[in-house]
Amino acid sequence: MCGIIGAVSDSNVLPILLDGLKRLEYRGYDSSGFAIIVEPGKFIRLRAPGKLIELERTVNANGNIDGFTGIAHTRWATHGPPTEQNAHPHISGGRIALVCNGIVENHEELRSWLIDQGIQFQSETDTEVIVNLIQLHMERGLDFLSAIRTSIQTLKGAFALGIVNADEPGRIIGARRGSPLIVGIGENSAYLASDIAALIAQTRKFIVLENGDIVDIKQEEIQITNLDGHVLNRDMQFSDMNPQSVELGNRRHYMEKEIFEQGQAVSDTLEGRITTSRVLDECFGIEARQIFDKTERIQIIACGTSYHAGLVARYWLEDVGMPCQVEIASEFIYRNHPTPKNCLVVTLSQSGETIDTLTALDYAKQCGYSHSLAICNVPDSSLVRNSELVFMTHAGPEIGVASTKAFVTQLVALRLLTIVMARKNSLHNLNETESIRELRELPASIEATLNLEPAIQKIAQQFADKQHALFLARGIHFPIALEGALKLKEISYVHAEAYAAGELKHGPLALVDRNMPVVSVAPNDAQIDKLKSNIEEVRARGGKLIVFADSETRLSSRENLQVIHVASVESTISPIVFTIPLQLLAYHVALIKGTDIDKPRNLAKSVTVE
Ligand code: M6R
Repeated sequence: MCGIIGAVSDSNVLPILLDGLKRLEYRGYDSSGFAIIVEPGKFIRLRAPGKLIELERTVNANGNIDGFTGIAHTRWATHGPPTEQNAHPHISGGRIALVCNGIVENHEELRSWLIDQGIQFQSETDTEVIVNLIQLHMERGLDFLSAIRTSIQTLKGAFALGIVNADEPGRIIGARRGSPLIVGIGENSAYLASDIAALIAQTRKFIVLENGDIVDIKQEEIQITNLDGHVLNRDMQFSDMNPQSVELGNRRHYMEKEIFEQGQAVSDTLEGRITTSRVLDECFGIEARQIFDKTERIQIIACGTSYHAGLVARYWLEDVGMPCQVEIASEFIYRNHPTPKNCLVVTLSQSGETIDTLTALDYAKQCGYSHSLAICNVPDSSLVRNSELVFMTHAGPEIGVASTKAFVTQLVALRLLTIVMARKNSLHNLNETESIRELRELPASIEATLNLEPAIQKIAQQFADKQHALFLARGIHFPIALEGALKLKEISYVHAEAYAAGELKHGPLALVDRNMPVVSVAPNDAQIDKLKSNIEEVRARGGKLIVFADSETRLSSRENLQVIHVASVESTISPIVFTIPLQLLAYHVALIKGTDIDKPRNLAKSVTVE
């Protein structure tokens, strides 16, 4: 889950590496570092624990650093704490420097072997075994590239590597197995990085490497081979990513920016996918209609916030007669799946690089699931490339670790899927024109809901000194309560749990007292009367309630009960609209608590380790 970048250029690569690291920091921010070849045979390596700002301070304290070849890294610690010693790049023999994103699973065995060969380790990381292996093979007579190939053959695990040799300025070698890696092609320059956004200020021309690729990058020439040395052809692509879409602009945090972009993100996700009366099946892929015709069941697999989107979709799909199961990706692989026939696997992922989801998709294929559809926000991600059908959410880059606009656009995609699936079953009588109208009105309802910010800001004060919070809802809004609790936990560090309100009396009611804020999602749906009773049960026990309701819920504020009215919308899309106030609540609680909202402790945006 780290970010890597490398550059060869005819000008100083230091600013390029630092700018790239800034854009990659979402992948991990426990430490960062770089190694630049400043003259043949000589590196300058600087590393610093903590966020990138610490590395920038170290750079400023070290004066002028100038070189045309370099690699850099931002770390999410797996093996060894986030110290300077464990920060990448790792160096061996004073001439090979290496950065890695991923995990070497057999590192203990390799470390013992290397120690037996007389190698001394400087860090506790698994990565250091790779650089030492390469150096050892070179000492034993292999050239740089052959030493890398031979070393990789002995590694188990998933990783992406960037490697430079101080004796060969103007050259970087990259390798991909499991973790993402792209090559950027510039004017008199070439690059390597974990994603396109890292290089968007330098170039728009990219090659996406595939698993098993080894790339030999020189300023004028790029050659891709496999482990056996066979030359491979990979297409060059042009990215239309707007560099400004990854700039913060006048917002305080990316999360705030992304919350307020949600109306536009929904419009962009709908654009070109619907007419006034029909969802275009082709938006899921050319073969979608043929595959959907055969589909009898749906299995959704995802993690975290994406999993919550899947839970909402189950209500929608079952409502139109499509059996649907939803499972956390990291658990899906531990069960047998005896009846995968005519079952469409739908994976949901913002990044498309979540290793648990990728592994679960592979496992589903092994189990014989018929077809796969990825709903994803990152083009050319591993998930997109490994899936038969693809629906791209057009949320734009999501930088804040807490997922917001990706979730809302996943829900839009899943609603479109539901509408298409409903055609299979005329008994369920979903009116397609009406459903499309509801979706078209969604951006306006989101904008109206964002206007609740000042009221939510006030309510957030009540959470500032609290350790715990409960979230309650029923039915299709229960996953929204789960999502609200996850947002609060992840960015404000308040322990929050969501319960299906009917479960309250089976245990969690014991937790309720005046110190436990209870948030409830209460639209005027079929469950509202039962939910109102649960709200009263909490009040009767001294609990303090914050209820997000619509104007038809007929609930008003009184002692220990604050009601915030959200715009009334059709019940099908109300889970999307009720998500917004919970995001704002989490954001404002975190703001008051002064946490690092975009980079909460211990987390990373893209989780590429199991
Ligand atoms: O990129 P993905 O959607 O696959 O990521 C899945 C989760 O890691 C992600 O949703 C995570 O739970 C978010 N930080 C939640 O805000």
